[in-house]
Amino acid sequence: MGKLSSKSALTLGQVMLPSHSNVAGNVFGGEILKLMDSVAYAVAMKHSESNVVTARIDEIMFHKPILIGSVVKCSGKVVFTGKSSIEVYLTIDVDDIQNRKTCGRALSAYFTMVAVDENNKPKIIPQLELIDEAEKKEFEKGKERYEKRKLLKY
Ligand SMILES: CC(C)(COP(=O)(O)OP(=O)(O)OC[C@H]1O[C@@H](n2cnc3c(N)ncnc32)[C@H](O)[C@@H]1OP(=O)(O)O)[C@@H](O)C(=O)NCCC(=O)NCCS
Repeated sequence: MGKLSSKSALTLGQVMLPSHSNVAGNVFGGEILKLMDSVAYAVAMKHSESNVVTARIDEIMFHKPILIGSVVKCSGKVVFTGKSSIEVYLTIDVDDIQNRKTCGRALSAYFTMVAVDENNKPKIIPQLELIDEAEKKEFEKGKERYEKRKLLKY
């Protein structure tokens, strides 16, 4: 994903407690989505310096289960900006701290956040500053997804 631009990225760590579990004793998927939504919200707010709402979630992939007691690291990074929309790429990486092991990537998804004004209407946001070639490539891919959605009217 390239070098992180601090204004448009954020990482948050959280211990998975028994209160986060599903009936099978692993972490409930909805808990992780809530964490991802919170990070997407914070990253998009930080980028736009305004209130934002979640408009869409794409390509959610649950790569592996997450066990209670592990530490999840949720990272969010702005990959594309439209006029008022901000696409944030979210990942969840897991560490088994009891056994001092890294368990790798458990989830990834794209969240589209929209900056809104005091009347909850979309507002213009600053464009993403692209630092390197990798970010430029990511931006182009985001632009393709954005244009495709516009054509399909979401
Ligand atoms: C998101 C929202 C503000 C868009 O308002 P709208 O009047 O439909 O806005 P527009 O059609 O002018 O679109 C504004 C931007 O949002 C984007 N957008 C709107 N709906 C979208 C969707 N479903 N998926 C992806 N992008 C979307 C548009 O592409 C546009 O981006 P751009 O400005 O970068 O070109 C409005 O639909 C809303 O408030 N939705 C509910 C959000 C919410 O409450 N989320 C939390 C749920 S618990």
